[in-house]
Amino acid sequence: MKNIIKILAVLMVLVFTLSIVGCSAEGNDKANSGGQEENVQNDANANQAEGDAQDSEDASAESETMKKIRETKKIIWGTNAEFPPFEMREGDQVIGIDAEIAAKIAEKLGVELVVEDMEFDALITALQSGKIDFIAAGFTIEPDREKQVLFTDTYFKAVQAIMVQEGNEEIKSADDLEGKKIGVQNGTTGDFIASDIPGAEVIRFNNGIEAALDLNNGKIDAVIIDNLPAQMLAKSNPGLVVLDEKPFDAEEYAIAVRKGDTDLQQVINEVLKEMKDSGEIDELANKYSIGE
Ligand code: ARG
Repeated sequence: MKNIIKILAVLMVLVFTLSIVGCSAEGNDKANSGGQEENVQNDANANQAEGDAQDSEDASAESETMKKIRETKKIIWGTNAEFPPFEMREGDQVIGIDAEIAAKIAEKLGVELVVEDMEFDALITALQSGKIDFIAAGFTIEPDREKQVLFTDTYFKAVQAIMVQEGNEEIKSADDLEGKKIGVQNGTTGDFIASDIPGAEVIRFNNGIEAALDLNNGKIDAVIIDNLPAQMLAKSNPGLVVLDEKPFDAEEYAIAVRKGDTDLQQVINEVLKEMKDSGEIDELANKYSIGE
């Protein structure tokens, strides 16, 4: 009986493996990435064999998430699509750098991509509760978040930038922000930084666009937001400028999955590696930053 279970488990893994290789081969016309793909699958099989030898109950190393993705043929991407050039709405579509990465992840898995667009500060809970399968949202790796989610490899370097009204003679550096009214997007690293500035009044907005609006209207003195989105906001709000000085800690964006979903993390790392190695991420940054 035990043997039958073992054989069944191995068969299931094989079928899944073959279906992934099959799907990716279809959607992927780059010869060498097809090769990498096979290696990954072989690795997975090797782990599998080890696991079998030790414990027949743990025969399938597949996470619940991966099983669900395979069964529903869907993967759910959680984001806050108010953060150009990483994610923004165009009609009923979400486009941007992260949207292209998310599409590649779905393609690699051979499943459909479903987008859940929500408030930024709801993303971690949505991931933990199973409402979404991964977060791609210009999401900075940060110690407190690392306790709650599993981050993939990084794909983009960023830094917080300070925006002010053009011609502002008072705020020329981070030190000048003391005691000022600072707009941020709720729950972002910009929010954490502003909250540490002595005497500053932090005004939390649902998104950077609303913060920029209030900055334009003179309701707040400055906005702290990631550098690329800051540039985009300055472009669409001619009265606003981004200070050259960026004294804050360097940040890195990564994708986040649920703790324990190491199989999904591994697939995403493969996608990121391919996109970084081919220079695609940089190309996307140019593509979506210019234009609007
Ligand atoms: N990088 C910042 C953070 O992780 C801001 C990200 C905001 N992203 C978004 N899609 N609204 O906190």
